[in-house]
This record gives sequence, structure tokens and C-alpha cells, in this order.
Amino acid sequence: MSRLTRVPGVLYGGDYNPEQWPEDVWSEDAELMREAGVTMVTVGVFSWARLQPGPDTWDFAWFDRLLDLLHAHGIAVDLATATASPPAWLVRAHPGILPVTADGVRLEFGSRQHYCPSSPEYRAAAVRLTRALAERYAHHPALALWHIHNEYGDHVTECFCARSADHFRAWLTDRYGTIDGLNHAWGTAFWSQRYGTYDEIEPPRTAPGPVNPTQLLDWRRFCSDALLECHRAEREALRELSPDIPATTNFMSMFKALDYWKWAEHEDFVSDDAYPDPADPRAHVNASLNYDLMRSLKGGRPWLLLEQAPSAVSWRPVNVPKKPGLQRLWSLQALARGADGIMYFQWRASRAGAEKYHSALLPHRGTASRGWRETVRFGAELARLGEVTGATTRADVAIVLDWDSWWALEVDDHPCARMRWPDLLRPWYAALHARAVTADFVPPRADLDGYRAVLAPSLHLLRPENAERIAAYVHGGGHLVCGPFSGVVDGHDHIHDGGAPGPLRDVLGVSVDEFWPIPDGEAVRLDSGAEATWWSEWIEPDAPDTEVVDSYASGQLTGRPAVTRRPYGAGTAWYVSAHLGEGIAAVLDDVLRAAGVRPVLDVPEGVEATVRSGTQGTYLFVLNHSDHDTRTQLTGPYADGGTDLLTGAAVRDHIDLRPLGAAVLRIATDSLGETDQ
Ligand code: GAL
Repeated sequence: MSRLTRVPGVLYGGDYNPEQWPEDVWSEDAELMREAGVTMVTVGVFSWARLQPGPDTWDFAWFDRLLDLLHAHGIAVDLATATASPPAWLVRAHPGILPVTADGVRLEFGSRQHYCPSSPEYRAAAVRLTRALAERYAHHPALALWHIHNEYGDHVTECFCARSADHFRAWLTDRYGTIDGLNHAWGTAFWSQRYGTYDEIEPPRTAPGPVNPTQLLDWRRFCSDALLECHRAEREALRELSPDIPATTNFMSMFKALDYWKWAEHEDFVSDDAYPDPADPRAHVNASLNYDLMRSLKGGRPWLLLEQAPSAVSWRPVNVPKKPGLQRLWSLQALARGADGIMYFQWRASRAGAEKYHSALLPHRGTASRGWRETVRFGAELARLGEVTGATTRADVAIVLDWDSWWALEVDDHPCARMRWPDLLRPWYAALHARAVTADFVPPRADLDGYRAVLAPSLHLLRPENAERIAAYVHGGGHLVCGPFSGVVDGHDHIHDGGAPGPLRDVLGVSVDEFWPIPDGEAVRLDSGAEATWWSEWIEPDAPDTEVVDSYASGQLTGRPAVTRRPYGAGTAWYVSAHLGEGIAAVLDDVLRAAGVRPVLDVPEGVEATVRSGTQGTYLFVLNHSDHDTRTQLTGPYADGGTDLLTGAAVRDHIDLRPLGAAVLRIATDSLGETDQ
């Protein structure tokens, strides 16, 4: 697979905000970047006010000098379109740019990301700036990548102003045509909510009680689309004026407000900002989940870790630094899961502003600091890993992720407010992670052939056509595991005829008679010893061959089925009617065995193992996230070991790692034998 940019090797660098520094500091920066092995920096993210100090005043001279300086030092540039923070003069000239909350509060200038996605003045000004930058720098030799905007949806994901309302109405008209179509979709026969014309519709502003759930669902869809329109406008300008340079925008991991399946279609490659919390001992599992998602968003294409903290952030209540070696390990983790570049926020620590306590590659203490030593050491290590770029990962397991379903799941007035997509997903993912089983994420419309097992921890909203695809996959020999509260509503958030699991009833061979949430602080036991919290269901196996795998052993459902399995065509479908937390691992063990899914390696607790394969070789990553020494046996296709790219040493039989240690083995090709790696 081709490189992300024309810059060779693993991209290494970070956000660089030179406008915060006198120019004589820039040359020192460029020298130090070279010393650290930095290959690319992101510039201009928050430079709008400096680049365009007034409506018709532009100041590019300083930026010209900056790009020339970086180029002279061999540092490539990821050039931001600078549109995430409109300057004061622009918002004073057009106060309607400022976003409005659901309570009608206009958010003031003085922070960042203060714009209404539907504001025509904001959009026009953003495209004008993008065009000006592209016209000037499209052919600059330092330019390697366009960085569109910055973290769409950060701080402000929605605006409730009058213009957003107009825009929402237009979006709804496109979607439903006649007002009857909308009345049906929104179920407005309920609570006298019928609309006579589109003009009567408003965004779901703060209301006396629960707001129409389909209105909310459409609002979420609209807000994601409205921001995507802003993004596409900038993207189009770049495509026209700078067609040869790739463009990306930095995603925010598994972010609820934006349907990244839709967004990723407009990226040349996916990039991500990831801020795992060093105070959380399980942070690496969640990070791994996010990185698998980033790899999956464009069908396995390598992605770019565009921001992470070298050490502490400044925006948590308590900002714990990364202990020595942790940023290295977590960076290698991103590489292990498909990243071709490791970048940071930010290069030089700010002395003023809201982020002055945020860590940087070059900390306040300068080159005497521990942070700087790690920056230099890691840059040198990354330089040895260039051959890994472009290599991809094959997964036997797919996890279904659907933003529509996520949004529909998390509206108010549901049987149990604890049912949140990330909380439902995490234990399923953690079980795979602990077993070194690699998973892709897929949208519900995906082609599932090729996966041995498909996991759906929560498919609350399920369209019949997607259910059909899932059923056909099982029928053809696939293994499906479906979590609770799934197949409940259709694309309009209406309950499926006959109740859950709706269009999956046949393939799963069960019907849900009644949802049976579990009060906070209580748990219900299953025969297997697993414990359910938050959620259980009274289910009826209604196919003759539905087999009960586990039953409730305490509480009001005692003796009733909890987990079922049904042969369907050449495959098997499991239904898990309760939130089992970590207890899901035992169910998944069964499924993985039945589906013939093998781990990369049998790993000790706290060790992560993944594989990337490319034209230059197959690379086995083994990472020790634990606080003790570990030994991992090399077995199967990796039995003969290989060369550790980090040390150059030959490794055979097993890998011993110190706490936070890592190995990246180029596997000897003959040892790959019959495998399809
Ligand atoms: C990101 C943002 C950066 C910086 C960073 C601090 O969300 O894109 O500009 O604020 O967080 O952690």
C-alpha cells in the first residue's frame, strides 16, 4: 500500500504553533526538530487571526518564512486550513457566527471553536481562507499534507440558532419530502405533535419534558451532516487548487457526535487524536479499541495518529503525566494497530493560554528535561521502523458499530438509562484484547463474508435490509453474537412489529417478551456464574432448535433462558439477553472456538500482540502494558521468531519483556509456512 504522504518512514512530529514565539526561537525549533528526528509538523491550526488580521488584510510573509525555514531543515509540513477558531473581527462583523445552546445561550468569543456549522458567513470565510492558503502554498516544497480544520465537533457539536433551524428544516424536507412523511417518521400522532408545515418545526431545544425521540435522532444525523458540509466545502477547495497533496482531518477516536463511517469517505486517509489517561490502568485497552476503529474506517488503510500528549494533558481535573517509557509504549501500540505516523500535541510547550500546563515534545525546561530525552530517543527508534509503514492487518472478527443505533440507544425515557454504547461495547472488546484476537469494526451494511465471527454488542436500531445481510452471513456459515436490547427499533426509531429482536427474530430463534432492567447496585446471577447488571430480559426461545446456553439463576427471571444459540443455515447465532460485563468473555470463548478464531499468540495478562503484513515483511508487535516482567511464547506461524527491529537482535522461541517493554519482530519468512499472512 502506498505511503500516507511523500515523506518516507514513520511520520514523527507534532503541532507547531510558531505564532506564540518570536522568530529567533523558530530557528532553534527547526534545529531541535532535526535533532529529534522529527519529519513532519502541523502548522497553522490556530493561525487564522494572524494570517488574516482583517476582512481584506492578509499576512502571509511570516508563514512564508516559516515554511521555508522548515523546508531548509528537511521538515515536511502538514498545513492546517486554520478554520477552527474564527478571529474576533469576523465574529464582531457577523455575530450570528457564534453558536447557540439548546437553552438559547449564545457562546461568546474568547475560547475556540466558536462557530455555528450552519452559518453562511462562517462557511464563506472558512472557504476563502482555505483557498487563500491553497493558492499560496499548494506548490511549496515543504507541503506534504493538508490538515482540514481541527477536530470537527470539539467543544461545539450543535447549534440551535435560527439559521440552524432553517438549515434543519431544509435537511428534513430533503429527507422526507411531504410533511406527511415527516409526521409518520416522527410519530407525531403522539402527544399532539402533528406538524402542518415544515415552518412549524424547530430544533430540539430545551422543552418542558422528553423531546420527540425521532426528532432527536434526526437532529443528531443533521448535526453530523452539517459539520460534514463545512468539511466538504474546504475539501473541495483543496481538491481544486491542490489536487496532488493528500488531505485529512483529525478525528477524535470513537466520538458520538459524528458518523465517522460517512466522514471517512471524504478523507484521503484517516487521522486520529488520542488522549488515553495515564491514571487509568485500562487505558491501553480502550486506546486499542479506538485504533482498531481508525484502521477500520477506511477498510484497513494505514492511518495517522495526528495528536497525542507526550506526557500530561491540561484539561482533566487531575492531569497525571506519563511515566518514563509510557509514551513510547503507547505510540508503538498505535503503530501495532495500523498507524503509519506518530504525532503529538504539541512541539514546544506554550507559556501562555489555556494549555500552558499541557506537556510538549520540547517541555518548558527545554533540552535538559526528561521529556526531551524521550522525544529524541523515540525519534531515533521510530527511524528504525520505516519498513512497517503500509503494512496492513487481517482480522477474523468483526464488531458492528452503527452511529444511528448509538444515537437511538442513548435518548431519554428508555427502560434503563445505563445502556450506553461505549459501556456495552467495552467488555466485549476487552475480552478480545486479552486473548490477542484482532477485530475490525464494520458498519451494519458491511459485507461480512470473510469474517469468522461477527459481534454485535448492541444493535438497538436495526434496519430490515441490514438485518437481512446479517442473516445471510449466518446462513452462509458465519457466527453471530448479538447483545441485549438489539433489533428493537427501525430507522425511524419505531419499535419493530412484534417487538425485539425484530428482523433478527428468525435468525436468533428468540423473542423478547419483556425488558427486565436491574436496579443500580444489584446484580443477577446466571447458572454459569456470570453476573448481569443494569439489564436482563424475559426471552422466549421460539424456534425448535434454539438451545439455551445459560439461564438466570437469581432474581425474578430465575430459571429462564439468558443466553441462547441457534444453528441457522450453515452458521450459528447466539443471543445474549443481559449485560454481562466481563462475564461476556466466557460466551465469546465458546464462539471463538466454534468459529475457529485463533489468537495471534497466547499472551500473558497485560501483554498485547498484533500483526501487520506488507510487501516488505510480516511484523509481530508484542507490548507489555503490565508492571511486571513477562514471557510470551512464540508459537504457530511465529514459532521461528525473527529480528526485533527495535534492537536488531534475533529472537527465537519466546519474547521476554520488562514492564512497558515492546518488541517489533520482522518474522522470518520461511516460518510463515502455510499461513495466509
Ligand atoms: C486537542 C486539540 C489540540 C489541543 C489538544 C490538547 O483536542 O486538537 O488543539 O487542544 O487537544 O490535549
